[in-house]
Amino acid sequence: MKAIRGATTVEKDRAENIKESVKDLLLTIKNENGLTEEDVICIMFSNTSDIRSFYPAKAAREVGFFNCALYSSLEPDICGSLKKCIRVMVLAETDNPPKHVYLNGAVNLRKDLSKILNIAIDGPAGSGKSTISKIIAQKLDMLYLDTGAMYRAVALACVRGNVDYNNSSAVKKQLDAINVSVKYENGTQKTLLNGEDVSDKIRTPDISMLASTVSAHECVRLSMVNLQREIAANNSCVLDGRDIGSNVLPDAEFKFFLTASAEVRAERRKKENDAKGINQSICEVLCEIKQRDEQDKTRKIAPLVKAADAIEIDTSNMAIDEVASFILAKIQEKI
Ligand code: DC
Repeated sequence: MKAIRGATTVEKDRAENIKESVKDLLLTIKNENGLTEEDVICIMFSNTSDIRSFYPAKAAREVGFFNCALYSSLEPDICGSLKKCIRVMVLAETDNPPKHVYLNGAVNLRKDLSKILNIAIDGPAGSGKSTISKIIAQKLDMLYLDTGAMYRAVALACVRGNVDYNNSSAVKKQLDAINVSVKYENGTQKTLLNGEDVSDKIRTPDISMLASTVSAHECVRLSMVNLQREIAANNSCVLDGRDIGSNVLPDAEFKFFLTASAEVRAERRKKENDAKGINQSICEVLCEIKQRDEQDKTRKIAPLVKAADAIEIDTSNMAIDEVASFILAKIQEKI
């Protein structure tokens, strides 16, 4: 179940104005979130005390929400708060991340939620990108898009097709024959290769190296970047990768670039590998990390690079929570 938030304001304290504004708000929430009437369990309303002519909740029945429970409350008079404002919380059964809706004067309440916002978190392997990005996405109720997983899926397709991954025409042929996509289950990204969930199969050291190699081909980058841009254009999301701030979304509202020494990153990766039962010595892991850094930084198209306007954070001696709090504070300064 998801809680979808929304708010709107009315021009005048008149029944018609209240009805129209609430109908508009509820229909927008319904459409934006792809809900049917059956998905909606309950809608809670609150309104400022300057609204007296009509119960906002009554408008819900008029737009076809006949079965869900409705609840209304009156907000306290807060000095300086928005006038003639109606807030809603819609509880609905949906697997999709909630799209909150703020209309009319209420757009000023949550500038972060009322427009699509993208946060780019780039950096080399083991810099903490994915862990941090997941935390930020969860705290801000946004989608987390692991762009590396897409390149990994292409690498897996090349392995399965016995494709020479250094040969760009062979890789292109394979790329044209496959379909890489992502879906979300309870807020968790699943990476699909021709519809098959390959999220776990792409997490091996071999696929890590191959993903770095295939991601250097122009055809692969064009195709994956298009997919990433499409997702980012339609959803507020935290994207982790190598070139998000510098190439995929140069206009992203927030850009961070995480670094850490190769030794620290290798230690982290080794711990993850151990937990998954992947047997590799620390020397092997370090060697692979360095090789991958070199490949990712020196490829011709969209290499791993800090965007000029990204905030760089050296996470070598920072705990996960410290990095996440730092990033959240930077975001909250601006929204
Ligand atoms: O983040 P990761 O380890 O899952 O990424 C695997 C490889 O994919 C990485 O070595 C380079 C490539 N990649 C890329 O080129 N651009 C991105 N935005 C993300 C990953």
